[in-house]
Amino acid sequence: MRLLEEFEHEHRLVDRVAGSLIRFADSSADGTTSAEAVTDFVHFFRVFVAGYHHEREEQVLFPALVERAEVPANRGPLPAIEADHREAAALVDELEREAGSRERAGEVARRLAHHLWEHVDKEDSVLLPEAADRLRRNGVTTLDGREPSADEEAARELGERLTERFPPIEDPAIVRGDGCVACSAFAVTCGGIEKEWWNDWETEYHRSLDEG
Ligand SMILES: [Fe+2]
Ligand SMILES: [Fe+2]
Repeated sequence: MRLLEEFEHEHRLVDRVAGSLIRFADSSADGTTSAEAVTDFVHFFRVFVAGYHHEREEQVLFPALVERAEVPANRGPLPAIEADHREAAALVDELEREAGSRERAGEVARRLAHHLWEHVDKEDSVLLPEAADRLRRNGVTTLDGREPSADEEAARELGERLTERFPPIEDPAIVRGDGCVACSAFAVTCGGIEKEWWNDWETEYHRSLDEG
């Protein structure tokens, strides 16, 4: 499904820009970054990530799952992902507010990067494969988003340039992981995909796949 493939592709860019935030945080500590870099990161996250990427997840994919693939709207993964999107927006606001302080901007950038990596990992390992499977089984074979506006496309290119200015690095403090167990919402606001989305028949079906 084209939209899901676009999401995966966009996640690769978000993943790399998160690595650039770590590079930015490290260079903030030695005083070599500028407030202008903060402005560029903030613009990329507001216009491309929130305005284009999250917008299509919430406005196209989620309604398709709820209306056409029997996914609950008010509990489980969908509200957990929406809460993540709000948290990302709040961190971007905080980054903007701290633009005048290298040290504090670096600290917020690091938290934002950690948040984004966890978010991308839960979507790539759980949301997107589960969504593809459910939509297909419910007879939904095409799902299209929309073309980016000129501003959104320019923000995507800005993100690419940020990865050149701040070559992405990993953060040794972070261990990334796949599946619901790696998600901070698991057992807090969300019972996990099996409990929240699968009915008895689906649980049986997945078990038979695991058993080969
Ligand atoms: Fe996403
Ligand atoms: Fe998302």
